Amino acid sequence: LDNGLALTPTMGWLHWERFMCNVDCALEPDNCVREELFMQMADRMVEDGWKDAGYEFVCIDDCWPARQRDAQGRLQADPARFPSGIKKLANYVHAKGLKLGIYSDVGTRTCAGYPGSLGHFETDAETFADWGVDLLKLDGCNVPNWTLLAEGYKNMSKALNQTGRGIVYSCEWPLYEWPYTQPNYTAIRDTCNQWRNSGDVYDSWSSVTGILDWAASHQKTITPAAGPGGWNDPDMLVLGNFGLSYDQQQTQMALWAMMAAPLIMSNDLRNICPRSRELLQNPHVIAVNQDPLGRQGVRVASAAGFELWERPLSRDRLALAVLNRQEIGGPRLFPLVLATLPSSSYCDPRCNVTQILPEYRELGVQDLFSKLLLQVNPTGTALITLTPLKKH
Ligand code: GLA
Repeated sequence: LDNGLALTPTMGWLHWERFMCNVDCALEPDNCVREELFMQMADRMVEDGWKDAGYEFVCIDDCWPARQRDAQGRLQADPARFPSGIKKLANYVHAKGLKLGIYSDVGTRTCAGYPGSLGHFETDAETFADWGVDLLKLDGCNVPNWTLLAEGYKNMSKALNQTGRGIVYSCEWPLYEWPYTQPNYTAIRDTCNQWRNSGDVYDSWSSVTGILDWAASHQKTITPAAGPGGWNDPDMLVLGNFGLSYDQQQTQMALWAMMAAPLIMSNDLRNICPRSRELLQNPHVIAVNQDPLGRQGVRVASAAGFELWERPLSRDRLALAVLNRQEIGGPRLFPLVLATLPSSSYCDPRCNVTQILPEYRELGVQDLFSKLLLQVNPTGTALITLTPLKKH
């Protein structure tokens, strides 16, 4: 969407995967969806280096509104869980130099059954702008007929634009359209700043690989749409939770960087382990993700239990990821001969090679025929960049 926003993939935090629709604040005051949760995450984002690393958006997902609209037909926050209201929360977040995201649905109700925006696109866009909201995630549950998806997502896009406020627009349009038809990615890119294609991420390795396999098997269709202003969204980063080993966390981080994906974490920043935090804040991985060229990477080969992914970067560089999909045995060596790469030109005649993951290492100047042995743990990923050296 050409609204001047999301020129690189959005970075931030979203409550859904970790906190879901926990509205029982009497039982679990620290883990329920209420204003304190978002204020605490904003505090942590500033104090623990997240903001400096580039994470900017604090985002509310489903289950924030009251069950009914107000007398003027406007959405209102649940009065018990957000007693100060969203405008105050936005002020709090803005005072910290961060941005606030909110959630609604293109249908009659959200996925969890709260009021949706169908028939209220203008009112809701105005309400969000008035509150000072900076991002809207618009879900696609409870649409009376799937043909209303395109119309609804476009109408909300127009309504947001008419408010005059810069609001990043995050859609789930293609996800809900795929069961019926192949989505029109040109229209989606014209309408949204990012869009979900595949199912919800869970805190598990099978979920992460399912998303990667979906992206790879649809890459011809989805990657041309990605670029400054519009991104394919493979859903939240779940690093720092319960289900991924450290190697698997490296894989999610590396591959989300390769896919030019929004880096939107869902975890508990109040007690995340230092290793996960360091990985999420790794400046080299983030630089690959945020590369200004904005081209999404693709899976270029898959053999012997390894996957090779490539992403062209600005200044004629290339990022390469080697994922070890084998879930048995120990670390395996991947022989990287630069001449055999699908994009061998990067090292013709020579290039500078930098390894970013599993740990940072300068691998020096290499030529087309040097053989680099990359060691990759089961379910882990090696991430490297190639910088061509000019002919003399
Ligand atoms: C859908 C979305 C999720 C989340 C939930 C909330 O499943 O895909 O990301 O927003 O709804 O109910």
